[in-house]
Amino acid sequence: MTSYRPIKTAVFPVAGLGTRFLPATKAIPKEMLTIVDKPLIHYAFEQAQEAGIENFIFITGRNKETISNYFDHAFELQSTLEEKGKNALLSATKDWLPPAGNIAYVRQQEPLGLGHAINCARNFIGDNAFAVILPDEMMVSEKPFLKTMVEFYHANGGNVLGVADCAPEDTDKYGIVDVQSEDGDVIQVKSMVEKPAPADAPSNISITGPYILQPEIFDLLSKSQKGKGGEIQLTDSINTMIQTTKTSGIRFVGKRYDCGSPSGFLQANIACALKRDDMKHDIERMLKEFIV
Ligand code: G1P
Repeated sequence: MTSYRPIKTAVFPVAGLGTRFLPATKAIPKEMLTIVDKPLIHYAFEQAQEAGIENFIFITGRNKETISNYFDHAFELQSTLEEKGKNALLSATKDWLPPAGNIAYVRQQEPLGLGHAINCARNFIGDNAFAVILPDEMMVSEKPFLKTMVEFYHANGGNVLGVADCAPEDTDKYGIVDVQSEDGDVIQVKSMVEKPAPADAPSNISITGPYILQPEIFDLLSKSQKGKGGEIQLTDSINTMIQTTKTSGIRFVGKRYDCGSPSGFLQANIACALKRDDMKHDIERMLKEFIV
């Protein structure tokens, strides 16, 4: 059996301004807004850990320092919790932290698009395949989706993309794939296009992430011209790479929340609260009161 380059590193693009959440994001990164009691970025990070990823690269920008503080020890807080014997809370602050040296932060410096953000990680990834996780997309499924994708990758190689059907009128919100062939939840991708108008869309199968990408993407990203919206698009470079590298889409089976929009973010909060034994009953009661 062929063995493919292992996936040890995940890249998290977190440099965006989060304008849809203003005024909150005037002072707090969007990724630090909470779903119940954990910041959004923590769910993306857990997805990576559950898939066996060991190194984490955050592509950040100005005013994102709270993200690096979050992925670090907080000694005063931790010693106070320890003194008071609040062990569960103490664990919640630190048990999930990776060892020192396994997290890196790279500043994007200029907001030139998702492709440009990912290319900022090129010197730290070198010749390895890697994952890209978009923190806005909160994906809840029985088996962690990236884990499913990594297993598929170890058997098949190539690029692997998370995809999902979207409403036909929403194709202009996503990268959209053209399908070569389809077998159950696995799609062989013929080409892809960033945010086409519904009339021009080759299908209604949207790219949701995560992505597993071969490092050859960096040469293409480095040469890429600006695309849709005047930005360097990841979709454009993957589309070029399809000519030389098999690219598969795995259909996501589960519940997906677009936490890049306030409404999707609220839905994710309610759904996560309903899963919590300590809140479920209160939230159910409240929802019944609202819906008359
Ligand atoms: C990005 C990608 C797009 C993808 C989407 C998923 O767009 O460019 O191809 O479908 O994420 O959320 P953005 O949401 O950053 O505009």
